[in-house]
Amino acid sequence: MIIGVPKEIMQGERRVSVTPETAGKLVQDGAEVWVQQSAGEGAYFHDEQYTAAGAKLVADVKDIYARADVILKVKEPQFNSEQNLHEVDMMHSGQVLMTFIHPASPVNHDMVRALAKKGVTGLTLDGIPRISRAQVMDTLTSMSACAGYKGVLLAADALPKFVPQIFTAVGMIKPIQALIVGAGVSGLQALATIKRLGAVVHTADIRPAAVEQAQSLGSKIIDLGVPEEAAVGEGGYALALSEEWLAKERAVLAEVLPSMDIVFLSALVPSKIAPILVTEDMVKTMKPGSVLVDISIDQGGNCDITPAGTTEVHHNVTLIGIKNIPGMIPESSSWMFSQNLYNLVKYLTKEGKLVLNHEDEIVRGILTTIDGQVVHDGAREAMGL
Ligand code: NAI
Repeated sequence: MIIGVPKEIMQGERRVSVTPETAGKLVQDGAEVWVQQSAGEGAYFHDEQYTAAGAKLVADVKDIYARADVILKVKEPQFNSEQNLHEVDMMHSGQVLMTFIHPASPVNHDMVRALAKKGVTGLTLDGIPRISRAQVMDTLTSMSACAGYKGVLLAADALPKFVPQIFTAVGMIKPIQALIVGAGVSGLQALATIKRLGAVVHTADIRPAAVEQAQSLGSKIIDLGVPEEAAVGEGGYALALSEEWLAKERAVLAEVLPSMDIVFLSALVPSKIAPILVTEDMVKTMKPGSVLVDISIDQGGNCDITPAGTTEVHHNVTLIGIKNIPGMIPESSSWMFSQNLYNLVKYLTKEGKLVLNHEDEIVRGILTTIDGQVVHDGAREAMGL
């Protein structure tokens, strides 16, 4: 089995899907690993490390797409301006692609159709179910942990003041107050990170289980007053709140926002757009110099004036809507991503070949295109198929 690792081509993307460490493990397992020259440079993984691990360096990415049985990537296929070709056009029938395809997202529908037409078997990493046996393969969770850590550090960096309590010769500096809204994977990581820096942390979530975890990490809790039956659905997942409950939630948050220095927003119900929890009028009540980071921006954001993909100051509040935060810590995020991907490849490999058992819950979750068809439920629904 030849596994191909192209260099990522999205502008500013510094991650790589396979590190020298996981390349070595794949080689040991019997695969050939073909890595495009300088694919890992952005994450400080060098060509020599890949060759030392037993991988083969390839200068022309077209050779990788032409020969590999499996392509491992971070980002969905897109137009490669250096080659003047779309990445899908370089792929071939029967090839397996494993990456974040985000197939339900309308901007990707043409690309998903093209993958199907080419006969590529597309496996989307955002479809890994959040079940315990799939945890070691869950790239989305790993990337959320990265976004929680780095996202709250971006906020700390933009603050015009110290985070912790500091005793100085001229007096005591008080610790900052941070609010985490949505204490899932990223929110809990943000909580733990800013608490380690010395902030006093407050957390709000609609799921009692999330609130309990936040409390055990030393956070104070903002009671949103949403009853469990309105907030938690099957399997313990959050439910999309009615407009009435959202209005009540905004009223509770409006009370605490004026005393916060950092507001970290990461509330989301899977496969829904992000609920608006902070309005422009609420931002106007925040402290001058305070910082709001809204990492749900890919799903529209939890604040109605977060600038998508950038940072802006409005009403004396720094609003951070940067996308691809994991790409800002490319070494750690690539390491986690590649470990997850290695575990997934290993899970799917039987006697040196990838085998897709369509009865398997993990395979069902990730299978996007096969045999010329788009088979991913969310994508089919979004594409009207
Ligand atoms: P998660 O599902 O683990 O956590 C979301 C949390 O929001 C859950 O605990 C849920 O109970 C809570 N929630 C839902 N509705 C709520 C409401 N009305 N009020 C308060 N809490 C509510 O999700 P995860 O993995 O932490 O991701 C969070 C967000 O971060 C997602 O939008 C994801 O796309 C985004 N993300 C952004 C990245 C970036 O670079 N900007 C990178 C990775 C993730």
